[in-house]
Amino acid sequence: MSRFPLFPHPHPTPADERAAIVADPGFGTRFTDHMALATWTAGTGWADRRVTAYAPFTLDPATAVLHYAQEAFEGLKAFAHPDGSVWAFRPERNEARLADSCARMGLPRLDEGDMLASITALVNADRAWVPTGGEASLYLRPFLFASNTGMSVQAATEVTYCCIASPSGPYFGGDGVQPVDIWFATDYIRAAPGGTGAAKCGGNYAGSMAAQLEAERHGCSQVGFVDAVERRYVEELGGMNLFAVTSDGQLITPNLTGTILPGVTRSAILELAGDVGLTAVERPIELRELRSGADDGTITELFACGTAAVITPIGRIADLDGEHVIAGGRPGEITLTLRGILTDIQYGRRPDAHGWLTRLV
Ligand SMILES: Cc1ncc(COP(=O)(O)O)c(C=O)c1O
Repeated sequence: MSRFPLFPHPHPTPADERAAIVADPGFGTRFTDHMALATWTAGTGWADRRVTAYAPFTLDPATAVLHYAQEAFEGLKAFAHPDGSVWAFRPERNEARLADSCARMGLPRLDEGDMLASITALVNADRAWVPTGGEASLYLRPFLFASNTGMSVQAATEVTYCCIASPSGPYFGGDGVQPVDIWFATDYIRAAPGGTGAAKCGGNYAGSMAAQLEAERHGCSQVGFVDAVERRYVEELGGMNLFAVTSDGQLITPNLTGTILPGVTRSAILELAGDVGLTAVERPIELRELRSGADDGTITELFACGTAAVITPIGRIADLDGEHVIAGGRPGEITLTLRGILTDIQYGRRPDAHGWLTRLV
């Protein structure tokens, strides 16, 4: 018996309509028939766990999250394997990061195992929504927020946990391997020491939208951020971590200083570096180093990574000082090889030698 019992949707999406959505899902715009829920109250703790019909929330206008943004979330994917089973990629990492995000936001953490129990129950209820073939998957979005009402600035006294699921294709559209352009918005910062940069909370993203709009005005699809103190070191992108391949065989990525989201994909790629003959190095990386390395060929490849973006080549970086093309603007060989290894593991086409997959169905 699941900790999250199912109360089935009385009027689920008709099978033909669902099949059409799953066949061409886009990214994060369509949602399955159910959602997982639980509620926390001070004194009682977590209760009322269930999987129920996907439906809007009714919120009092004075609900705390609408005013003070006490919220944390996760993003992970469920992958259908050729034998019909469905698997999550390193969900224990998302569960641990959600607990860390909650601690930083002064929110109660879920009870141990509740995130995994909720996604397992939800994916079992909505198994027919898990896409098969291509690079599609079921994107899972667990989140929790302060749902008590009142204007005083205080820690949450009631919290709602929810997990929704969305059949999804490649984040940037196309086949997922076309290079993207990054705009480094050096006039904006995403996170400062002591702030919330390492937490996955909505406020970090709210604060990045003006910079993202600036990136789009400059013809780039993603924004990149530098450090808050010196405005010199690259940190990460609006919704992805960053890696570079150097001409002397290193796979470099900014070290985790507390202002960068510790990506689950990032940590997997660090472990895969040896498989492609590279030495993984986590260290500060100057924006200047990326610019000159792109020009003189000491940076041979650059890519973004994350659950949504998987591994996406970066063809060009730009900022107020000009633009620099990496490797002729084409996807790099190592980038594509790493992407192939990672997706082969996720989709069950290659043995899961690292023990990264957890079976859901
Ligand atoms: C700001 C930011 N950095 C990095 C990542 C990559 O993290 P992960 O690989 O865990 O998806 C994400 C996506 O979740 C993100 O939003």
